Amino acid sequence: MTTAHYPSPLQFAYWVPNVSGGLVVSKIPQRTQWDALYNRRLAQIAEHAGFDYALTQIRFTAGYGAENQHESVTFSQDLLAATEKLKVIAALLPGPWNPALAAKQIATISHLSDARIAVNIVSGWFRGEFKAIGEPWLDHEERYLRSEEFIRCLRGIWQKEQFTFAGDFYRFRNYSLKPKPLHPQPEIFQGGSSRAARDMAARVSDWYFTNGNSVEGVSQQIEDIQVKSRQNDRSVKIGMNAFVIARDSEQQAQQVLQEIIDHADVEAVKGFQHETQNAGLASPEKEGNWAKSSFDDLVQYNDGFKPKLIGTPQQIAERIIDYKRVGVDLLLLGFLHCQEEVEFFGREIIPRVRVLEQQLISELRA
Ligand SMILES: Cc1cc2nc3c(=O)[nH]c(=O)nc-3n(C[C@H](O)[C@H](O)[C@H](O)COP(=O)(O)O)c2cc1C
Repeated sequence: MTTAHYPSPLQFAYWVPNVSGGLVVSKIPQRTQWDALYNRRLAQIAEHAGFDYALTQIRFTAGYGAENQHESVTFSQDLLAATEKLKVIAALLPGPWNPALAAKQIATISHLSDARIAVNIVSGWFRGEFKAIGEPWLDHEERYLRSEEFIRCLRGIWQKEQFTFAGDFYRFRNYSLKPKPLHPQPEIFQGGSSRAARDMAARVSDWYFTNGNSVEGVSQQIEDIQVKSRQNDRSVKIGMNAFVIARDSEQQAQQVLQEIIDHADVEAVKGFQHETQNAGLASPEKEGNWAKSSFDDLVQYNDGFKPKLIGTPQQIAERIIDYKRVGVDLLLLGFLHCQEEVEFFGREIIPRVRVLEQQLISELRA
């Protein structure tokens, strides 16, 4: 990465628990809840704690510890109405959503929220879910071709007075959306880790969201995206998932991790493992999300234990800076007891990260 990226402070997002069961596939007692009241309060805590974004999830069916799932766009609007500065990222799944409906919904929410809405385009990993709702299941490369057209259509509809498009999946003729979203336009994130995901990010997305990974692992992905996006005369920002366990001592934090894994919902994790191995190996290069995830890794939905943000506040802040050094712009965080731990993260960890960021900048200037 270039040193030009360093001065921007790292940004923080949290996973909205809009599906039941929290963010781990474990029967460990959790105080996290999935209802609207809990989530409104969590969003308010997060914006006071210094979080920039909240990410809602989209799932259409139960599976693997998430028996109930609130819809992402509606839920995002509710959180925006309950907050003042937090940006909320709504997940959209091409297939159930088409770009005409999505562009219209998000433009209206942009007006309702003073431009605080963003979107995360997800491409589908759960074949059973598509089957259950009668959506055709495309192969991996086709899913990404469709997502790319979806993103091109969103941008075209939001930016052009009259939008015309003739693609393999979507067609528009002189379509004029009014009102357009407010400025700045909704940011476009995308989730996924395969080569197709990286290529799509380099061509059309503002942000690349990926599963938790080692510093070396994510650094390789970032280099690949940077080379490809420069070839397209673009730049793409990087967000990575991580699960945080901050306690007074490293030993206490490790013990909590062990308890989460010891209480794993074995049947649900095995089901998830079966499905995600199919998904992880679905791309031609066999390197999508979860391609190399062990049973323990999958106790957190998006490989959140891999970055090892587990220890004391100072250890976690230092580890976060290791990710900033290789070009991560945003950390998407999950917690066991969301309200309490988001508040703690803002009070004890973000200030330490800011001090270390200043040291990093001074180091580079020296
Ligand atoms: C941060 C992040 C968030 C995601 N959120 C969702 C989601 O809400 N709903 C969903 O169906 N898939 C979600 N996904 C899955 C991806 O969109 C994608 O379908 C999956 O990673 C397989 O693609 P890949 O082979 O490129 O990794 C998410 C992935 C990531 C990394």
